[in-house]
Amino acid sequence: MICMVYISSAILGLNDRQIANIVRTSQINNEQLGITGILLYNNGNFMQLIEGEEEKVEALYEKVRGDRRHTGVTLLLKEPITHKNFDNWVMGYRNIDNLKKIEPELLSPFLDEDLNFSIYKKNPYRALQFLEMFKKIIS
Ligand SMILES: Cc1cc2nc3c(=O)[nH]c(=O)nc-3n(C[C@H](O)[C@H](O)[C@H](O)COP(=O)(O)O)c2cc1C
Repeated sequence: MICMVYISSAILGLNDRQIANIVRTSQINNEQLGITGILLYNNGNFMQLIEGEEEKVEALYEKVRGDRRHTGVTLLLKEPITHKNFDNWVMGYRNIDNLKKIEPELLSPFLDEDLNFSIYKKNPYRALQFLEMFKKIIS
């Protein structure tokens, strides 16, 4: 199994309904593929982790990479894993804006960075830390 994490920018004007559509499709498709993960949206940017069988995850990443609803898709991490970290998430989705209000102290060190691309590109493991923390807050 592998896990892949990428960041990207939503195209201008992508609205909540369109994001809800992406999430719904993802939940249906990923369940069939045995792929789990999490999709975060903050201020026009996405961060997504997908995990599962190598070939399936790679193929999904290629499909998502070509999706015209986002641009600048940048792979941060691709790693072999022995177990799934987001096992009970078919494709959890969170809009960080809402969470900011609930957990400002926990999230602020990460959100000051605002899913800032350069920080995560320099230190991809920070993205993993960030996602792990999310999992803890939400579950
Ligand atoms: C940010 C983002 C994340 C996405 N994540 C997934 C995903 O996890 N699984 C998935 O099947 N599609 C995902 N998609 C949608 C795919 O690019 C594609 O539109 C969809 O899989 C097509 O599904 P269909 O073949 O059932 O019509 C994502 C799209 C975007 C913009």
